[in-house]
Formats: sequence, structure tokens, C-alpha cells
Amino acid sequence: MTSFDQKAVIVTGAAGGIGRAAAITFAGQGAKVLVADIDKTRVRETAAIIGDKAIATQVDVADWQSCRDMVELAVEKFGRLDVIFNNAGIAGDRAYTAEQSLQNWQRVVDINLNGVFYGTRAALPHLQNAGGGVIINTASVDGLIGMGGISPYVATKHAVIGFTKTVALEYGKDNIRCVSVAPGYIKTDMTAGGFAREELDGLANMVPLGKRGAEPQEVANLVVWLASDQASYVTGSFHQVDGGIIAGVSMEQ
Ligand SMILES: NC(=O)c1ccc[n+]([C@@H]2O[C@H](COP(=O)([O-])OP(=O)(O)OC[C@H]3O[C@@H](n4cnc5c(N)ncnc54)[C@H](O)[C@@H]3O)[C@@H](O)[C@H]2O)c1
Repeated sequence: MTSFDQKAVIVTGAAGGIGRAAAITFAGQGAKVLVADIDKTRVRETAAIIGDKAIATQVDVADWQSCRDMVELAVEKFGRLDVIFNNAGIAGDRAYTAEQSLQNWQRVVDINLNGVFYGTRAALPHLQNAGGGVIINTASVDGLIGMGGISPYVATKHAVIGFTKTVALEYGKDNIRCVSVAPGYIKTDMTAGGFAREELDGLANMVPLGKRGAEPQEVANLVVWLASDQASYVTGSFHQVDGGIIAGVSMEQ
């Protein structure tokens, strides 16, 4: 008997990075997992890695109908829903705010913020039916501090943390927990594609714990624990997993 036997989980952004690591870890603990992503080729690879316990689907989290279809598919295939990990996200284009295109701002909001709302809204009635459940949203350390050049990203990640707190307040009565995770520098396609090598080295150098970026598995471990009954009194909270990068100002030379 493992923590997630008989449980059904949805993971968005599951084609790679944090989402793929989380989906594999949930399945390893007994869950049936709907792995969802806009990249249908790579999300099928995630399902193939997992095997029988996984079903892959394409979703565009920026689209309400697509999110609703994703949740309905999970309930149809698994007969229930216990956990949704709203994890899909994009960094968006880098530019200072006066030069930010309106299109980029809207796209980042649509995916990073509206996507979390849509997934949550679609999942809530099913979690209520199941007698409770867990919603985990991926924010960022950029949901707690600013970062030059990515104001849409920072704005959406701050919003995810506030949204998460409110859902926790509204649905605690239904035994539904809602938490967010705030990763720091994680070695995924997002960071590899969004920063130059020297910038990544600079970020790693700012991490007190080992001067390194994290593996996606190190975030997945937190996510799966938060979704488990071990975290039965944890809700409304955000959880940094950042090697201490925003703990404060290091005076180390
Ligand atoms: N990597 C980091 O350092 C870091 C730090 C803090 C927060 N995060 C957050 O972690 C989450 C996962 O990112 P990652 O680092 O694993 O990067 P990633 O690029 O590997 O994963 C993001 C996934 O989201 C998917 N996606 C993008 N737009 C989508 C859409 N419209 N609908 C459905 N899926 C879509 C992508 O195809 C991709 O598979 C994101 O929300 C990101 O903001 C990452």
C-alpha cells in the first residue's frame, strides 16, 4: 500500500521538467495520472515512461474548454479526481516593462494565471464529489520577489500565490487543500532556453545550498509530499524550494 493507491491525479505541463518528474513520482507511489501538456509528442513520451498508470492528453491551459475537457477525461477514465497539479507555465519574452509587447503580457497571463484558475475551477466540483482533494499550483520565487525583464511572469506568479490562499479559504469546508510551490532555479527547458550560460552560472552562484540549480525531481518530491496525507494540515501556504536563493542577502565574498 503506497500513499496514492486508488487516487487519480492530473499534472499539467507534464511533457518535461517539473511536471514530468512529478507525474513519474505520483505514479511511483500508486497514483493513476493524467499527464497533460500542449506538446502532445513529449507528453506521450511521459506517459510511455510511466506505463499503464498514465494517460496522455493534449491541453491548452490558456483555454477554458480545453481545461474542462482535460478534467472530464480524467474523471471518465479514472472514475474520480483527487489531485490536480496546475504546473504548466511559460517565462515569456524578456524586456523591460515599457518595451513589453501587449501580446506577450496577455499570453503570459493567459497561461500562467488563467490556466491555474481554469484547472482549479474545472477540478473543484469533482474534488467536492470525492469528499476532498488537493490543488497544487506552481508559482515561483518570482511570486515572492521581483525580477528585472520579466514583469508579466512576476505579476502572474504573485497572483498565483494570492489565488491559492483564497481557494484554500473558500474550500477548506469541503476538505480541499490548496497550496503553491515556489521553485528557484530548476534545471529545465525553461531555464536552459530563457537564460544565457553566464546568467545561469550567475544564478547558480547565488544559491547558498551548493551553488547549483536543482533537478526537477527535487521539486517533484515536495509536490508529491504536499499532495499526500502527510500534509493533512497544510493549506493556503506557499512553499519555497530554492536552495535558499531568496532567503536574504549573503555577505559571502
Ligand atoms: N525552471 C525553473 O527554474 C522554474 C522556477 C520557478 C517556477 N517554475 C515554473 O515551473 C513550471 C514548470 O516549468 P519547467 O521549469 O518544468 O519548464 P518546462 O518548460 O520544462 O515545462 C513547462 C511545460 O508547460 C507546457 N506548456 C506551455 N504552455 C502551455 C499551455 N498553454 N498549455 C499546456 N501546457 C503548456 C510546456 O509545453 C512545458 O512542457 C512553470 O509554471 C514555471 O513557471 C520553473
